[in-house]
Amino acid sequence: MTGMNPLARIVTILAAAAFTPVAFAQSAAQPWLDASLSPDARADLVQAQMTEDEELMLVDGYFGVYPTGRLLKPAPEGIRKDLPGSAGYVRGIPRLGIPALRESDASLGVANGRHMRPGDTATALPSTLAIAASFNPELAYAGGAMIGKEARQKGFNVLLAGGVDLARDPRNGRVFEYVGEDPLLAGVIAGEAIRGTQDQHIISTTKHYALNDQETGRHALSANIADGAARESDLLAFEIAIERGDPGAIMCAYNRVNGVYACENDYLLNKVLKRDWGYRGFVLSDWGAVHSTVDAAINGLDQESAVEFDKEDFFGAALKQALADGKVPQARLHDMAHRILRSMFKNGLFEHPVERVAIEEKADAAVAQRAAEEGIVLLKNEGNLLPLMAHTSSIAVIGGHADLGVLSGGGSSQVIPLGNKPEQELPLGGPVIEIPGYGPQMPGDRMILDPPAPLTAIRAAARGARVVYDDGSEVANAVKLARGCDVAVVFVEQWMREGADLPDLSLSGSQNALIEAVAAANPRTIVVLVTGGPVLMPWLDKVGAVLEAWYPGNRGAGAIANILTGAVNPSGRLPITFPQSESQLPRPVIPGIDIRQPRLQWIGNQILFDVDYTEDANVGYKWFAAQKLTPLFPFGYGLSYTSFDYGGLGATGGATLTVSFDVRNTGQRRGKATAQVYAAPPTADGHGVARLVGWSKLDLRPGETRHVTISVDPRLFASFDSAANVWQVAAGDYAITLGASSADASATANVHINASTIKP
Ligand code: BGC
Repeated sequence: MTGMNPLARIVTILAAAAFTPVAFAQSAAQPWLDASLSPDARADLVQAQMTEDEELMLVDGYFGVYPTGRLLKPAPEGIRKDLPGSAGYVRGIPRLGIPALRESDASLGVANGRHMRPGDTATALPSTLAIAASFNPELAYAGGAMIGKEARQKGFNVLLAGGVDLARDPRNGRVFEYVGEDPLLAGVIAGEAIRGTQDQHIISTTKHYALNDQETGRHALSANIADGAARESDLLAFEIAIERGDPGAIMCAYNRVNGVYACENDYLLNKVLKRDWGYRGFVLSDWGAVHSTVDAAINGLDQESAVEFDKEDFFGAALKQALADGKVPQARLHDMAHRILRSMFKNGLFEHPVERVAIEEKADAAVAQRAAEEGIVLLKNEGNLLPLMAHTSSIAVIGGHADLGVLSGGGSSQVIPLGNKPEQELPLGGPVIEIPGYGPQMPGDRMILDPPAPLTAIRAAARGARVVYDDGSEVANAVKLARGCDVAVVFVEQWMREGADLPDLSLSGSQNALIEAVAAANPRTIVVLVTGGPVLMPWLDKVGAVLEAWYPGNRGAGAIANILTGAVNPSGRLPITFPQSESQLPRPVIPGIDIRQPRLQWIGNQILFDVDYTEDANVGYKWFAAQKLTPLFPFGYGLSYTSFDYGGLGATGGATLTVSFDVRNTGQRRGKATAQVYAAPPTADGHGVARLVGWSKLDLRPGETRHVTISVDPRLFASFDSAANVWQVAAGDYAITLGASSADASATANVHINASTIKP
């Protein structure tokens, strides 16, 4: 508690004392405070004491910004004004020692963009897509744990984290908040982040369940997909994330799925999530995603979030009436409350009350730095232009606000980063994305740059070199600067935000022209992409090197500088395919982008429309393979300053599949390889599309060889038989590929696998 002012300390101590387990443990009247009992037993014990009104309090959530004065409705009773508000708030029940749920967004750090108090900054991790690019589950865990710790230190006990919607479209405005296009990679990385958060005694969600794969018309669209295809793609990502992370809560999505709103979708909530996957936590709604009382309650929603965002308070008086009328059984309310309490007990919310103290900036920034360094992907390195040689005497840094910071993505996940200064918040204007068919941007939307500045970091890392800067606004000035230097490093940005998709994948404004002109003046041009996701690169042949830095967060600048100078050997791999043009995508134009919709579903009549996922489970690289399309850069791709050899592939089949292989560092530097294994199931006329079934990230010294064995989860190469509701593994010869990306076949093998059936 060092660093707190005395008043804040007293408030914190009093607040903590009010929830101290010791105090309660002494009370035999509250046996549910005995942490040695199971979460279910504890929930049963406390529920035996609860009135119907108290159970109803747990299922009805509020917008959480009351302490800042931004009221949409009168503040609920009992809100703790000593703690900050954020996205959501569910009342506690002090007479039973039940703490309130204090919810904050959390994809990239503790989000505080909309409701921050002055100076209330948090450590900004790189975007979730960048973490996925690390292909490193340990980093995902560390990031989740760091955010969980900061959440607790800021006074939150629920993080609205764990976004795992698959990247069916690289233009999705939230693609940076998600974990890419492959269900295994997405599920593992999201699951580990959730586990990290929850180990800090903070409930994490996973979201947005399900198929919230575009922002355009997210309240109005129906994502239509065959059941089996959904189970093999988007739902598989959730299934894996839930198995690994066991999130206390699942957030159901805005959109409809096969015609039914996700938050009242019996198939998604009751049948798949709660029955087939045996999920015991609770389902909370996205903000403004509830459309009914009885249907939502019966079909699996357990808690309405932020009722102010819905047309009505569906789980307030209306639910009480539905219970009285017998339209919703009492047992269902009991089950909703049980699930919420169970997750609270399971994650230690009673034993570990939140406490507002200063965050540990240095330690947390170190986590952000490691994540940024492992997430950055080296896409091109002609003639080993990178790393910059020790004798590089002059560097022109150009564009992309590199003198201020690195861009971050907008929306509810927005973190106000450590070291934030108002001049780093760019008002909309400048390189803003025009979104056809969309109304004005959300009030308060702004582009936020995470400090420190890459320019400062490059100056510090490239000691001895003259480092000069031009903002790129006048191409002629940039060209002059580039011409007079050994190398030019051009920073370009692409801003993405929640609530709208990019109309296309081109860099906005005149950034492409800037790169072309600088590269023409100095062929030793390095492009640093600070983007939410893929962009088109019409200048690719003309530049020497390209780094995909994503939104690299609070330590992005240092990470970029370390990679440019070679202090860090790049090891990120693409978690998403980079197309050559939008025409290669399953939907060249985003469905519904031409429809002008009200922003919130209850403000006006939404014009309903369909998005048909006819590519089925062939998301991303699988679509490219099925269509025999060559992308600009394939899934899994990324270069290193060393080289690797992948070989010695062996595969054992039969009832299970085990793959083993060797990876050798054949270069001169220590570096990290990401060996990827793909399996293509047999079909009548050959093999189906190959799917990622495992990977291993290995840190290898020059000359070092490592032997790896991977036991493959059979669901990854099975198909889901929706009539029988089981996974079916077809008998036959499977084609196994080992390589450095989805498009690389360094080694191949065939293996016979027996038929089998797996119950979900
Ligand atoms: C977003 C969620 C977020 C919620 C609360 C919604 O608009 O879709 O991801 O958790 O707001 O801020």
